[in-house]
Amino acid sequence: MTKLPQKLIEWLEVRLPLEPLRRAVEHKTVPTHRYTVCYYLGGMTLFLFLIQVVTGILLMLYYRPSASEAFESVEFIMTTVPFGWLIRSIHSWSAHLMIFFAFVHLATVYFMGAYRKPREVTWMTGSMLLFLAMAFGFSGYLLPWNQLAYFATNVGTDIAGAVPVIGEYAVRFLRGGERVGGGTLSRFYGWHVAILPAITTGVLVIHLILVQILGMSTPPSLEQEARKHRPMKFFPNFLLRDLFGWVLALALLATLAAIFPGELGEKADPFAPAFKDIKPEWYFMFMFETLKVMPGGEFLGIEYEAIPILLFGLGGLILLFVPFVDRNTSAGTGFTVAGLVITTYVVGMTAWGYRSFLPILIAIATLLVIFLFGYPQRRSRKKGE
Ligand code: HEM
Repeated sequence: MTKLPQKLIEWLEVRLPLEPLRRAVEHKTVPTHRYTVCYYLGGMTLFLFLIQVVTGILLMLYYRPSASEAFESVEFIMTTVPFGWLIRSIHSWSAHLMIFFAFVHLATVYFMGAYRKPREVTWMTGSMLLFLAMAFGFSGYLLPWNQLAYFATNVGTDIAGAVPVIGEYAVRFLRGGERVGGGTLSRFYGWHVAILPAITTGVLVIHLILVQILGMSTPPSLEQEARKHRPMKFFPNFLLRDLFGWVLALALLATLAAIFPGELGEKADPFAPAFKDIKPEWYFMFMFETLKVMPGGEFLGIEYEAIPILLFGLGGLILLFVPFVDRNTSAGTGFTVAGLVITTYVVGMTAWGYRSFLPILIAIATLLVIFLFGYPQRRSRKKGE
């Protein structure tokens, strides 16, 4: 019996050239310093993305993308399909966690300066993955076809209309017509289950291949510290820790899904008075709140509302090209300060949007985990020991 895996490996090795892969995995190491914990964040985002793919495929088996049937099919999933409620709730919670981890991964990669040469393309594909994850969230929000989703999508797509010149075209492109309706639902479904997954898979593959080829970077300020410690072997040491984190994430997902299962509300009714408490998903909240504080009216034919929209667009573009904007080879304090100001703004506006301290507490807790649970140096072995 024990010989079977070895035989299988030999069988495979004759048919597939696995040797280079095995050698690459054997030689891969991870730098050890006080922020080694940050290297688990990309893997965690990846794990949650895979959960999304699996649960999404299961939901597709019962979901019907039409205005007359979407709500009822989700109701059927929640009440009749065995474990349907659990799969839908895990899909929803895992989406939140995936975007949260993508944000934290971005922030740590940014503050560690890991976007610098030669990782410019890794950073750019990473930013694209974040935009894609947000697009997944936006398109998925409408699919249950309930009141909240219907009116929030109306508001969300309306915002695109304020963009000068292309606004009207953008709204029609998003809605698949003049108004949010059955056409919008089919369009969002197409984006959610076909177009976005196809693009994401391509970008993700490039991102991961680059990470493998370039290895993990050591922040310039920690190079001395990392030199004092023996790097951790990726296989099995780092991967086992990765797996441990994924099991914890699975337990957290199951707990959240069981205690707070996905809600459904009431079926969308375009003729009903506008839903009172329209709110976007939390990761759009800082933009939504910024738009809300803008006064009405226009200047030189441009609506005031368009200013933050254009600024956010520009911000996204700058984010994509950060490695080419920051030409420093060592840690630049200007960029660190800019990153801190933007993070504080995003967290602050999110907290303001919810009139709650929870987003601030979550941000502080995340920082504490990174600072307190970085690689425990007490246990790291010095070179030559
Ligand atoms: C779906 C989203 C994403 C997935 C699945 C993903 C996956 C990964 C994985 C598995 C790693 C290697 C482990 C690590 O360093 O954490 C990694 C590294 C990296 N990621 Fe991502 N990532 C995502 C989003 C992003 C974003 C939003 C950015 C930044 C804009 C980014 C930039 C990078 C960079 C620069 C590295 C190399 C880090 C280093 O060498 O120290 N990634 N990513």
